Amino acid sequence: MKKKPLIAGNWKMYKTASEAVALVQTIKAATHTISDVTIVVCPPFTALGKVSELLADCRIELGAQNMYSAPEGAFTGEISPTMLKDVGCRYVILGHSERRQYFREDDILIHEKVKTALKYSLVPIVCVGETLAERESRTHFDVVKTQFDESLGRLEKDDIAKVVIAYEPVWAIGTGKTATPDQAEQMHSYIRRLISERYGQEIGTKIPLLYGGSVKPDNTRSLMEKPNIDGALVGGASLKAESFAQIIQEAQAAREAGVKS
Ligand code: PGA
Repeated sequence: MKKKPLIAGNWKMYKTASEAVALVQTIKAATHTISDVTIVVCPPFTALGKVSELLADCRIELGAQNMYSAPEGAFTGEISPTMLKDVGCRYVILGHSERRQYFREDDILIHEKVKTALKYSLVPIVCVGETLAERESRTHFDVVKTQFDESLGRLEKDDIAKVVIAYEPVWAIGTGKTATPDQAEQMHSYIRRLISERYGQEIGTKIPLLYGGSVKPDNTRSLMEKPNIDGALVGGASLKAESFAQIIQEAQAAREAGVKS
């Protein structure tokens, strides 16, 4: 039996607080019958409070898109794990390629953030993935291995077991160009092997591995049917309740079809 799928919506820098309220209300209405998928929405910081209130009476979980690695302090403009917990977050996306590319985040900082998130009982969704040039030069496995080793590979066993990993090839993000299910599966099984080699098979099997990069309703099913793909991190298609709900339904259908082991 496949794991319960996890579908997370990364709203990026879209939606004011009032727009976020409207979106989450329609997502709630469109997904209220779904029980077999873990649904997470990650609005911008300024909308977390209002969205959190609306999620109090449903199964949808709240996540943030980033946080700083210190619990508090003189870090102008940053947001701490305790602030995220206080507003009702359970998840936090860390090391997204846009953070790496535009805000110069490196694996060392991401590792610190992951450790802090875990210390404060947030579930980190840690993103890894290669650029187009790296894939074309066939270094994508090495790139992802380095990202894994540096940002996750020094965690204790108990800690890594609580992490979610998202494989997001940079060339597939927001481009409409998805990795084929086979390309994604190949990398997912490679990541699972890296985890198993470092932490043992039990943890390797258990950690949820999400795929991200132009996930849409019509490609969800074929991705989710792959044995090592346990869910999706969805950007653009999570900004419309209809497409986000369809993705969630497709993930549930893939699970029900029992295609997963
Ligand atoms: P996309 O974004 O679905 O718009 O490609 C995915 C992501 O950046 O998490």
